[in-house]
Formats: sequence, C-alpha cells, structure tokens
Amino acid sequence: QKDGYRFFMEKEIYEQSTVMSETIMGRVLADKIILDELDDDFFEGINAIKICACGTSYHSALTAAYLFERISKIRCDVEIASEFRYKEPLLSEDTLFITISQSGETADTLEALKMAKRAGLKSLSICNVDNSSIVRESNAAILTRAGIEKGVASTKAFATQTMVLWILALYMGQEKQTVSPDVLAKEIDAILHTPKALVVTDRLHAKLTRLSKRYLHGHGFFFIGRDIFFPLALEGALKLKEISYLHAEGYPAGEMKHGPIALADSDLFTIALMPKTMHYDKIKSNVEELSARDATICAISPESFELADDFIQTRYDTHPMLEFFEMMVVTQLLALEISVRLGNDVDMPRNLAKSVTVE
Ligand code: M6R
Repeated sequence: QKDGYRFFMEKEIYEQSTVMSETIMGRVLADKIILDELDDDFFEGINAIKICACGTSYHSALTAAYLFERISKIRCDVEIASEFRYKEPLLSEDTLFITISQSGETADTLEALKMAKRAGLKSLSICNVDNSSIVRESNAAILTRAGIEKGVASTKAFATQTMVLWILALYMGQEKQTVSPDVLAKEIDAILHTPKALVVTDRLHAKLTRLSKRYLHGHGFFFIGRDIFFPLALEGALKLKEISYLHAEGYPAGEMKHGPIALADSDLFTIALMPKTMHYDKIKSNVEELSARDATICAISPESFELADDFIQTRYDTHPMLEFFEMMVVTQLLALEISVRLGNDVDMPRNLAKSVTVE
C-alpha cells in the first residue's frame, strides 16, 4: 500500500502533484473558474468571511485570509476553533462561515460550525471526506479530493485545501468582478502549473537527506516568512515538531526584532522562506539581521543568498503561489528526513491521533 515508499507520509508528499490535478479538474478552465458546488446566489448578502479550523487546516485558513482580502476584496478573519467556541463571538448574518477540515470530524471545528449555524450564518466547508459530520452540517461543501491521507502529519490535505481556497478566492473575485480578466488569466495559468511545482525531484530529496544530518542538534528552529509565507512557516514548524519532536516555531519574519531574535546564535537553525515574487528585499534584510547574530541560516529561494549556511534553490519565480507550493514540499521533506534520521515513527508520531474527535 505504500507503493515502494518507506512511509505513508512520504508517499503522500510525492502524490501531491497528481492529487492536485484532481483538485483542479473541472473547476479551473482556460479563462474561467467554475464551482458547481455553489448556487449562483451563494454570495448574495455576504460582506465578510470568518474561517475556523484547527492545526494544519488553521494554517491553510490563514493563507486564505491573505487571498480573500487581496483577490476577492472581502474582509476575512480566521480563528482557531477551540478558541472561537468559548469566546462568546459577535457574529453577523452577512458573514460567510467557512470551516476547513481534512477529516470533517474534528470536534472543535464541528462545534464552531454549529454555533455559527445557530447564529444564522451561512456555512461552507472545505473538507477531504464526503459525508463527514462537518460536510453534513454545512450549507455547502467543496471537497479537496486529496484521497485518503494516512500519515498523521498532514501534507496533501494541506496542499489541496490551500488550492481550493485559492480557487474559491478567484471564483468570488470573478463573480464580484474584483479581478480583471487579465489578472484572472494569469492566476489560472499559475494554478495550472501547480502540479509541476509539486513534483519532487531526486536532486531535491537527496539534498534534503544530506542536509538533515546537520539539523539534529541545536536548540531549535525558526521558520520565517512574510505574507502567505508566514502561515507556510507555521506549517513547516508544525510538521517538524510533530514528527521530529524538535522545538520549532514559525514567525512572521518582520516580528523577529520584537523579541525572538534574542534567541539567535549558531545553534539556532533558521529556515528562511525567501520567495522572489513577494517582499524579497524585506525578508532578505530580516535574514541578514539574524545572520549578523550568528544564527545558522538555511535559505529556501530561487535566488542565491550569500549569507546562507545552507541553500535550497527553488525553481519557480513567477508567481507567489507557485513559490508557496514548491517551498511547502521542501519543508515537508526536510521534516521527514530529520524524523527518519532520528529513528522516529514518521506515520504515527507519539501522542498524536489522525482525527481529534474529542475536545
Ligand atoms: O481533520 P482536521 O483537518 O480538522 O484536523 C485538524 C488537525 O487536527 C490536524 O491538521 C493536525 O494538526 C495534523 N496532525 C497536522 O499535521
């Protein structure tokens, strides 16, 4: 069942390219986005979006918030479901309530959805499991079509959730005419290139296997990024924590000087997400500051970076989302190889369950 791969997680990382084509199929045409799952008047009366989710799904939600505001020009805020449940939130009926869940059974996310429904909000779920509790409770659902995900550490579910949310943001933009046909065409072109950006090359995997040797000790990892690369940094850190049990934190790169940089020394490994298409100079200067404090820098970028102790060159430098997906694969494989080297059970990490059906 592992098809020659050592772990389900590894298989699922490699599968992302083909699975993504399934996610896109029939939804993204040459000049138009189609979402049959949504009625024509689905967005009528909607002026804001609230997204609730947990764990990795929360990270795809954070990514989506940038996309909804930038592309669909709609206010979007994101909350961790377990926090939302008990904060006595103020909800208004012009808000679309989106839940994101791989399993569709996460107790906190399900309860958040029920609360929103009781408050009269329209709901939409982004889910990998048809007919799951969350799908059944929602007014509409868009399935991610990732196929069964066995590794406890989520990979292809995150990738496909993020894709569905990108498609949804564009669909809203198309319907509300907040995206011009030119921009839409460019976005569609990038979407159609995504499966290629997700292909794992032998060269990349070998490089990360070699690199993993250096990253077993030290006192922790910072994953840093800006904009959509900040949620990706959070997700990279979560992946590493889950399967290597090493301490890792994700930060917005611009936040380092507000405290975390105090930790910087050569035993602090910084995984810097340095996309060419998004605030490159800003992140570069953030990384320079860390390097000046002797932090060990692993730069992931299409552009070589002279201060990097280790450098992983990515291939795509034409669209932020293509860079996002390519860098996502790098962080997943890095976590995998570190975990393998430590002799951990990659697919069944200690203390974790695939689906969290109790609060
Ligand atoms: O099934 P869900 O997407 O609702 O699950 C949410 C989290 O429990 C899940 O993403 C968890 O954080 C994963 N172990 C991440 O790899």
